[in-house]
Amino acid sequence: MKSETTGRNTWKSRTGFILAAIGSAVGLGNIWRFSYLTYENGGGAFLIPYLIALLTAGIPLLILEFGIGHERFGSAPLAFHKISPRWEWLGWWPLLFTMFGIVLYYSAVIAWCIDYLFFSTTLAWGDDPNSFFFNSFLQVTSSPFEIGAIRMPILIALLVVWVVNWIIIVRGVGPGIELANKIFMPLLLILTLALVFWSLTLEGAMVGVSAYLTPDFSKLSDPMVWVSAYGQIFFTLSLGFGIMIAYASYMPYESNMTGSAIITALANSGFSLLSGFGVFALLGFMSANQGIALEDVVQESIGLAFVAYPKAISLLGTAGPLFGVLFFLSLTVAGISSSISIVEAFVSGIEDKFAINRELLATLLCLLGFAGGLIFTTQGGLLWLDIVDHFINNYGLIVAGLLECLAVGWFFKIDIIRNHLNKVSKLQLGTWWNWIIKFALPIFLSIILVNQLFRELLGAYGKYSWESLIGIGWSWIGISLLLSFVLAVQPWKTNNHLQNGRGEELK
Ligand code: PFF
Repeated sequence: MKSETTGRNTWKSRTGFILAAIGSAVGLGNIWRFSYLTYENGGGAFLIPYLIALLTAGIPLLILEFGIGHERFGSAPLAFHKISPRWEWLGWWPLLFTMFGIVLYYSAVIAWCIDYLFFSTTLAWGDDPNSFFFNSFLQVTSSPFEIGAIRMPILIALLVVWVVNWIIIVRGVGPGIELANKIFMPLLLILTLALVFWSLTLEGAMVGVSAYLTPDFSKLSDPMVWVSAYGQIFFTLSLGFGIMIAYASYMPYESNMTGSAIITALANSGFSLLSGFGVFALLGFMSANQGIALEDVVQESIGLAFVAYPKAISLLGTAGPLFGVLFFLSLTVAGISSSISIVEAFVSGIEDKFAINRELLATLLCLLGFAGGLIFTTQGGLLWLDIVDHFINNYGLIVAGLLECLAVGWFFKIDIIRNHLNKVSKLQLGTWWNWIIKFALPIFLSIILVNQLFRELLGAYGKYSWESLIGIGWSWIGISLLLSFVLAVQPWKTNNHLQNGRGEELK
């Protein structure tokens, strides 16, 4: 649906916008990534840095991204071009590495969830879910350069993921994305509530819950716990992706943007905290049932959803298959509502600059997404996923967030954004917000970045060779950066960059 006055796509309602933003934020990351990080980083102790990161980085940056998209009135590339043509590349870069990085492997993980939804009905993993996952299902090779064959079940499910993405996106902002989220988000909440309450009734559940809620304060002195908390906040709120900027640009002028950012951030973290109860209750049940310590139930992060959960599903007896179907369905729904958001953000960027027909674009991007995802359906796919995920999350998102703060805080009048937000929103931002964007966030993010780089130099990530880290990880970042400059220097095929579109003079 396009606005009659501005000609830009618009949401049908504020609720629709907030649900779509929550849909982007709530994803696979909230269910397995959050729970695993909490588990690994001292249970309840992790909640402290997590909440501090939410308040000091997540909410201020989400407000910034909503503010940029709404005030500059454009997708990320257009909005940054209007900040200064020199910064346009910063709008393209995250779109490129997210669309052709995160989403390619993210959709492969959604594909695994679809496969596991079916496996749950027959408990196909038998007595050894670990060996089933790595050896029978993925058939992982020993090096990323040994890609092996494509795994058919993953390929078929990946096709389903991209067809669903396409059906939603091609319908447009209101009838596609907004409607999908209006169905997906309530469905996800119901599924999650059912799973959490079910898990809480299991024997041993309280042991897990008490580990979840009991902080181990000694962990707080470990800088890695803080790095993980800030990294998770970026990923979970889809910050530094360019998505929230595009979504905010579809809001009409009179919209409470600051309030919407706070609701989105709190709903997203509330969802993580809620699903954490379910995960920990289930881990408590497994530890009681198998007589092993809670710390030993899960070995690897990816293993939480695809090894520990299947094991628990088998232990549930006749109700197991139903539990499994609900769990993997909830992951699938959460994943798809996130993946559509980046494709939309990319479509929006190209549409703004090159005025290409959106149906054609959506079709092309979904085809490219599927084709690019093929590498993650191969036997070497898990290793590629691990490397790409490591580099994009630890460098791409953090650097994009850092540059966003610097571009707006230091090379632009940040008060233009703050005054605009204050004019349209009920909640008023004080100058403290400028301070966070100009000083606090750049300092936090630089510390995290230096820490990561240092660790990178001290030893190769994982057990991968330097060739694979450079050939896959660094080059993924480098190529997307290069392409962002190429896109930024292309001439504009529209006049969008010359006007603010809301009929006011561009400051
Ligand atoms: N916020 C999402 C999550 O926590 O799972 C991350 C995400 C991934 C968002 C991929 C968007 C996306 F396209």
